[in-house]
Amino acid sequence: MRRSLRGALRCLGVKVCRRSALLVILLWLASWLFLNGLVFVHRNMFSDFCTDDKSKEILQRVCDEYQQGVLTGDLCEDLCVAGRVEYKRCLYYENGKKVMAASWRGVPIVLKSKLENFSSYEALALLEYQDTAGGMGGEEELSPLDVIFYATLEIKNSLGLETGTNLTLPRLWGQKLKENERTYSRAELASLWALLQQEEYTFLRVLQDLTHHVAKILGSCGHFYAVEYLAAGHAWDQHIFSLEELTLSPSPNPWGGQEKMITARDMVPRVALSFLEMVEHFENDFSHHLHLCDIKPENFAIRKDLTVVAIDVDMAFFEPKMRDILEQNCTSDNDCNFFDCISKCDKAKNRCGPKRKNSNLQVICEKIFRPWFSPTLLGAKAGLPLQVELQRAVQECAEIDGGEDAKHMWAVRKQLQDLLVELIQEDTGNQGEGQEHKMRRVHTALNF
Ligand SMILES: Nc1ncnc2c1ncn2[C@@H]1O[C@H](COP(=O)(O)OP(=O)(O)O)[C@@H](O)[C@H]1O
Ligand SMILES: *[C@@H]1O[C@H](CO)[C@@H](O)[C@H](O)[C@H]1NC(C)=O
Ligand SMILES: *[C@@H]1O[C@H](CO)[C@@H](O)[C@H](O)[C@H]1NC(C)=O
Ligand SMILES: *[C@@H]1O[C@H](CO)[C@@H](O)[C@H](O)[C@H]1NC(C)=O
Repeated sequence: MRRSLRGALRCLGVKVCRRSALLVILLWLASWLFLNGLVFVHRNMFSDFCTDDKSKEILQRVCDEYQQGVLTGDLCEDLCVAGRVEYKRCLYYENGKKVMAASWRGVPIVLKSKLENFSSYEALALLEYQDTAGGMGGEEELSPLDVIFYATLEIKNSLGLETGTNLTLPRLWGQKLKENERTYSRAELASLWALLQQEEYTFLRVLQDLTHHVAKILGSCGHFYAVEYLAAGHAWDQHIFSLEELTLSPSPNPWGGQEKMITARDMVPRVALSFLEMVEHFENDFSHHLHLCDIKPENFAIRKDLTVVAIDVDMAFFEPKMRDILEQNCTSDNDCNFFDCISKCDKAKNRCGPKRKNSNLQVICEKIFRPWFSPTLLGAKAGLPLQVELQRAVQECAEIDGGEDAKHMWAVRKQLQDLLVELIQEDTGNQGEGQEHKMRRVHTALNF
């Protein structure tokens, strides 16, 4: 009697357990469906604006204004008259910001503008002044020097550089303008002005000739500018970048011919090396240190030669602007975190230190390299001596304290670099005969 009662109780318990487990599963399923529904509705609502029709409408307006002489650019003729720019698809549309994929004379490009309409940009005050002056006097064109002056002001303003520092770019522009000895039309100036109001364009323009690690600007028409098409990183991809994205593009495949495709795993150490190179360049190549404050896979892209490119430059700041951003009132160190750029709270003054405490390298080690070289992702390879050493080096790099001296930082970077080079040589060595092409390719990839 007692035994059967206990048995019945146990049975009841199991039943209750099963029932609640079932309930949990059902609830989970229901919420999953609900969330998916939400995402679906959201996506459909917004895809309305990122449609091909909408994109073509926007490009049509650009071309209408080109024909009317309102705007111009080196891309306009091909886009509006010769039909050499082929629209592919809409990549992004939000709050007027428009990003489209296209192909220009067979080269894959991305067309961008912060605002869809040319008229939404601030007009150049100088042109209005000229209008009134023109009414009184003769038709006077703007001199190149005026253009440089205005462009310099706008650039300094936009990048947060103090006046009085050396800005090399406008001087270079000045040289070109002097050589040409030409004047500028209204459409040219208005277009340049609309472009300069887009921080991203200004930023890319300034860094174009100074580094490989930002997207190349290929041309522009009015307020739209074209940059090279790149393979952006994805957080969900264990290798972050996918070479297929680039090789699927219409231009010829550089790994083609008799050569075998480079695999995702071979790619990783090479891209990592390029990250290191980028860090070094951003520290030393410009008159100010460049800080990247939002480091995540989606904000970087690669080219076919495996160079790394910083594609979201909204969160990239030169030292003077960085100091402005960091210097805030605070009660604890937590108040001094600006995304990936952090400083210390000076409790005596209740003010954050203006100097960034961590570094680009440290955050890249932590957020990009650590997952790449983690034992779980490496699988069977994880136990190899070189991999173990690399994991240790990455860990050390991620934990560098900002207060440590530059010599130590340099040593950590050098060690990472040496290990990566060794790893690449090992990989290529293991692939045996018939890989000479590839070996050479590796070297060019390293020395680009
Ligand atoms: N040069 C490029 N090549 C390929 N895709 C790009 C390029 N630039 C931007 N994209 C894609 O377009 C989308 C939006 O571009 P982005 O300028 O990063 O906008 P936001 O900074 O507002 O996110 C991103 O998802 C990115 O993947
Ligand atoms: C852009 O211009 C078109 C046509 O003039 C107009 O319908 C549209 O609302 C404008 N968009 C914005 C964001 O101003
Ligand atoms: C600008 O650069 C020149 C040469 O590089 C240097 O002599 C000069 O001191 C710099 N000026 C400022 C304000 O940094
Ligand atoms: C920061 O602190 C100073 C003095 O303690 C105060 O005058 C100032 O208004 C504060 N600024 C902000 C933005 O809170």
